Amino acid sequence: MCGIVGYIGTRKAQPVLIEGLKRLEYRGYDSAGVSLMNGKGSPVDTRKAKGKIAMLEAAIAERPIEGSTGIAHTRWATHGPPNECNAHPHVDCTGTISLVHNGIIENYGPLRAMLQKTGHTFVSETDTEVLAHLVEAAFDGNLEDAVVDALALVEGTYGIAVISSNDPDKIVAARKGSPLLIGIGEGENYIASDVAAILAHTRQVVYLDDGEMAIIRRDGYTVCDLDQQIVKKGVSRIDWDLDEIEKGGFDHFMLKEIMEQPTTITNTMRGRLVTEEGFSKLGGLNLTMDELQNLDQIIITACGTSWHSALIGELMIEEHARIRCEVEYASEFRYRNPIVTDKTLCIVISQSGETADTLAAMREAKRRGAKTLGLVNQVGSTIAREDDGGIYLHAGPEIGVASTKAFTSQVVALALLTLKLGRLRDMSVVKGREIAQALEALPAQIQSILDRASEVEKIADAFADATNFLYLGRGYNFPAALEGALKLKEISYIHAEGYPAAEMKHGPIALIDAEMPVVFIAPHDSVFDKVVSNVQEVKARGGRVIAITSREEPSLEGKIDYEFRIPQTIDMLNPVLAAIPLQLLSYYIAAKRGLNVDQPRNLAKSVTVE
Ligand code: G6P
Repeated sequence: MCGIVGYIGTRKAQPVLIEGLKRLEYRGYDSAGVSLMNGKGSPVDTRKAKGKIAMLEAAIAERPIEGSTGIAHTRWATHGPPNECNAHPHVDCTGTISLVHNGIIENYGPLRAMLQKTGHTFVSETDTEVLAHLVEAAFDGNLEDAVVDALALVEGTYGIAVISSNDPDKIVAARKGSPLLIGIGEGENYIASDVAAILAHTRQVVYLDDGEMAIIRRDGYTVCDLDQQIVKKGVSRIDWDLDEIEKGGFDHFMLKEIMEQPTTITNTMRGRLVTEEGFSKLGGLNLTMDELQNLDQIIITACGTSWHSALIGELMIEEHARIRCEVEYASEFRYRNPIVTDKTLCIVISQSGETADTLAAMREAKRRGAKTLGLVNQVGSTIAREDDGGIYLHAGPEIGVASTKAFTSQVVALALLTLKLGRLRDMSVVKGREIAQALEALPAQIQSILDRASEVEKIADAFADATNFLYLGRGYNFPAALEGALKLKEISYIHAEGYPAAEMKHGPIALIDAEMPVVFIAPHDSVFDKVVSNVQEVKARGGRVIAITSREEPSLEGKIDYEFRIPQTIDMLNPVLAAIPLQLLSYYIAAKRGLNVDQPRNLAKSVTVE
């Protein structure tokens, strides 16, 4: 969602902050701004712009700003439209305090009225601006004291960074519900909402937890709670390489990430598969053998693409591990009264590990006595730190807003878990081996699909102007259809729906005519013959059929207009292989429509508000 970066050191802060913002642009990107300290007591120098960071750069180029301490922000609008005025940083009435904020201040209405009564003038429509004025009202020479007093009045969520030219040798940051980390340099330090912002400068970071505040100076930092009691924090090392967060010759991050999948899947499985025994080793579950064997229910909760992989996990776990499993949108789970016992395992799936609804659902499940297991990509993220155990995806940084490689890694991680749970129950070694061998074959099979990407591009050529799409599949391929439809609508803005193929006749069939492309995910699996009848139903009504198949199918002859073959695998892994042409199809359609594939309108990579 929004991104924060701050720098305090001896170098010019402006290029460091702008570069950091560019690395964060994928999180939220309707406007941006930067504030630099400009000498003790004088107003901080703030520039903002609507649109991309390039617009901000252009605004600064006209009138460069000096200083070696500053904060910067890229915004995804919540309160007030994206314009220069609503962009962060927000400054107080004196112009000496500047603040950036991720999250939502829920009681900003009464706070704003109270501050206006005492003479504060507001210039924006944002909830954030109240924070700048609250800090101003509490300021008495020491910035961290003022921040503590201000936050005591606030309800909601925040990750903030604040500077004041009347207490100039520090940046104060605080966190409740929105991620923040300190980057440790030599004679310089950083604050950021995402490690990508500072990876070019340091790999040593300290993650802040909720309820913590950091005072960051050139030569060090202090972390304390909001009673100003010092908290001892460990330093984590980030092992991503910088080239992992760069495009490396590809036109878009999304295409790069699609192409990386043979490697990312290998990384998800590395050291975890014991093929001979048809078993998997998952070191981070933190569950005893007894707990694993006595589970009576699994609840999987997630949002967006991660919710689709959860649906596939449900089918795998029930079929092969024989444990009752329910999948629920995290945003729904958190507000109802679910049945959870101490024999419930709650699996939360999240690429970012920061999605607000997913985090809240996990906390709710924990509160009700469930053990929690995070399937998370982002190492050190909040979900990864708060879950009882986890399986890291190891897919590397995913920058494109539309999730691709994280999805396939999630499905593979769920398959590894299914193997483990199944083999602790009644799955035979033969079945276990079959699954393990199919998993091992995936990277080469994905590569063989990617080598034929141009075939998908040709299909995309024929459909770039479509206005609607239907995606149909049965069994494991129904969630694959949902994911295919989501990918298309996210980046190409074409309306697309995923449906169980047989359900089509209970409604969507009314939409079918010559203008309606229908994508069938129809590999040769246990429900293939049933899908053929559904293809027939579409064809009979003049629909245009694109079929993802896995071998020559005489029964489909004359019924399909376009075909793309994926290699043969076991039923439960079909969604991994089917995902690749579906991702490529949406990518090529969006690229042909000239759209911003990596940063689609209105979407954010990591949704840290409810
Ligand atoms: C946002 C993203 C989606 C993502 C979803 C869940 O909506 O745009 O691509 O699937 O959040 O994100 P998570 O990081 O929890 O997997």
